[in-house]
Amino acid sequence: MIKIVTIIGARPQIIKAAAISRAIKKYFFKEITEIIVHTGQHYDERMSAIFFEELSIPKPDYNLNVGSSNHGIQTAQMIKGIEEILLKEKPDYIILYGDTNSTLAGAIAASKINIPIVHIEAGLRSYNKAMPEEINRIMCDHVSTLLFSPTKTGFNNLLKEGFKENKSPYNIDNPGIYHCGDIMYDNSLYFSEIAEKKSGILTKYQLKQNEFILGTIHRNNNTDDPKRLNAIFTAINKISESERITIVLPLHPRTNKVLQDNLDRETYIKTINNHLIKIIPPVSFLDMILLEKNSEMIITDSGGVQKEAFFFQKPCIIIRSESEWVEIIDCGLGIIADADESRIYKAFKHFKEIKLPHYNAIFGKGNAAEFICNEMITQSKNKKVK
Ligand code: UD1
Ligand code: UDP
Repeated sequence: MIKIVTIIGARPQIIKAAAISRAIKKYFFKEITEIIVHTGQHYDERMSAIFFEELSIPKPDYNLNVGSSNHGIQTAQMIKGIEEILLKEKPDYIILYGDTNSTLAGAIAASKINIPIVHIEAGLRSYNKAMPEEINRIMCDHVSTLLFSPTKTGFNNLLKEGFKENKSPYNIDNPGIYHCGDIMYDNSLYFSEIAEKKSGILTKYQLKQNEFILGTIHRNNNTDDPKRLNAIFTAINKISESERITIVLPLHPRTNKVLQDNLDRETYIKTINNHLIKIIPPVSFLDMILLEKNSEMIITDSGGVQKEAFFFQKPCIIIRSESEWVEIIDCGLGIIADADESRIYKAFKHFKEIKLPHYNAIFGKGNAAEFICNEMITQSKNKKVK
């Protein structure tokens, strides 16, 4: 039996953790014990609690309740809390997801006391270090022992940074790197039918299949820069008005908090009076899946939502200057439009006019979580991880 400590904190990590917890429950309960630590980075009911029951994620064994603050303070509080837990629990591995401050804190705490790190979503790069996430993911990758990359590009990025296809035994100085598919693809496949049965979101907001656009905005450079935020909302207004199409925006609390202050008065008034723009609170994952599946198009700066757009074969306008998911852009289902009003509108027109390209399975087969669990067990059984 191996013991793992899983660190979650931000919304997408809670959702990702569902895939590994489900694999453990179904296939590996005799071989893996999981302790879940919630850092408390996200804490609103709709950013955290809502997901646990809906996605059958075990309740966290620990909650550090760190809440929101500057990156330094937030990360430091997490490091302190995670270190205490690791010293007490002495796990075989710590599992870290993605690139948030919770990921970074786990990486620092574990690497200093020689606990092997399993990094899920390794190798992804934007090559833009102005993004806090880029710093977090690079630092985490470089102290990890088992690195699981969801895409071939991610795997190749690791090779470019000097990682090698080493032979086990693996350790922090001789890490193992894998291309294994995406656990979020596992989740989307698994929860897709369940969402059809359980979610009532379309009725709630009177939405019809393929007759609305879904949008999410939460990146700090978009929310905190009034110029960018104005460009985004001007484009959204223009799209809704030109085609008389509804745009549903489940808004992250970060965006909601700055909307009135960071939008020009005219754009703000126009947005809230535009009955085609439905600003709604963050939704549950099942509701989100149903919105994605039934939308005509998706506009987002989210990493996870870009991928889910691809999983459900929806065209996606990406409100960033680059993306880690380059395959989506290469195949024509995603367009980088940055926070540029005319590029966003042009991308919308483009997707309205073209026949959509065909879907390629580039995120695995929906069994990434099983692969990861299996590999942790194998490496541990053979005492290959030090
Ligand atoms: C974080 C991650 C980002 C990820 C996103 C997922 C970092 C550096 N960023 O960004 O990579 O894409 O989560 O959603 O870790 N807030 C609330 N209630 C909450 C949580 C946050 O009101 O439950 C508000 C607070 O005002 C807070 C702000 O949102 O200051 C930002 O939250 P924070 O966790 O610092 O960063 P995110 O923007 O959510
Ligand atoms: N999501 C959700 N409800 C929402 C918005 C997003 O369940 O109101 C899900 C979405 O389906 C995806 C994940 O949250 O699985 C993405 O998280 P987010 O956009 O916050 O972060 P990112 O992926 O950019 O790090």
